[in-house]
Amino acid sequence: MKKVSFLMFTMLSLLLILAGCGKDKEVSTTGKEEGSEGKTLRIVTDANYAPFEFLEGDKVVGFDVDFITAVAKEAGYEPKVESIGWDPIFVEIEEKRADVAVSAITVNDKRKQTYDFSVPYFLSTNKILVPEKSNIKSGSELKGKVIAVQTGTTGQAAVEKLIGENNKNIKKFENNNLAIQELLQGGAAAVVADNTVVEEYVKNNPDQKLKVVEDSKAFKEEFYGLMFPKGSELKAEFDKAVNAVYENGKYAEIYKEWFGTDPDMETLKA
Ligand code: ARG
Repeated sequence: MKKVSFLMFTMLSLLLILAGCGKDKEVSTTGKEEGSEGKTLRIVTDANYAPFEFLEGDKVVGFDVDFITAVAKEAGYEPKVESIGWDPIFVEIEEKRADVAVSAITVNDKRKQTYDFSVPYFLSTNKILVPEKSNIKSGSELKGKVIAVQTGTTGQAAVEKLIGENNKNIKKFENNNLAIQELLQGGAAAVVADNTVVEEYVKNNPDQKLKVVEDSKAFKEEFYGLMFPKGSELKAEFDKAVNAVYENGKYAEIYKEWFGTDPDMETLKA
């Protein structure tokens, strides 16, 4: 008799434990606080912007990918980065079909009207990519030349400011690699895009015989930010997480991996 009740007791406890486990699992997938396994976020990008985001096979890699992964994990989320193209990023975030965008996106007043941004995470400026033998030495010398840009970027806006908004000499492309191809094929005299991207391109493609021209008067300093739907609760959580990866050295580690030098943390905190 004693043996039987003991057996029943063990079986009952086992059942209770199992039931408990199942319940735990259910909760942990629905909310980030409840489990170790955080909620999966849909993070969108345009993977045509090395070294920030580019495709290696069908995998999206780059500084931005490592950065957002560290930040999302810090905030308790599971990041899922998807390359959907530049223009669609803005649609998906505005329509709240994606949680975060990371794509070397410059924070500016115009975009702030429609989107929320994190604290800045990278300092950038536009520069001019030209053939080595080009005599273009400044922004103002872009006048009368055919310029290739990626549509809807600060590069396009900067060129429009220099040579006029409706200037037919501005050739617009869906992504920056296509703009560079146009330059290589002789269809444009220059590409205007973010300094790190054009500098990296020149470094990695010495056979193409290109160079980068800077003009700090024509092109202002810009800061990249993570982009959220307006009013997203994630902004505050991610700001906290960005500051945490600044403090704990993770940002510097990722930066060094991609750029080979230490980041200037002071410019980011300014
Ligand atoms: N920083 C520039 C902008 O925000 C260009 C960014 C382009 N990024 C990209 N992944 N294609 O307009």
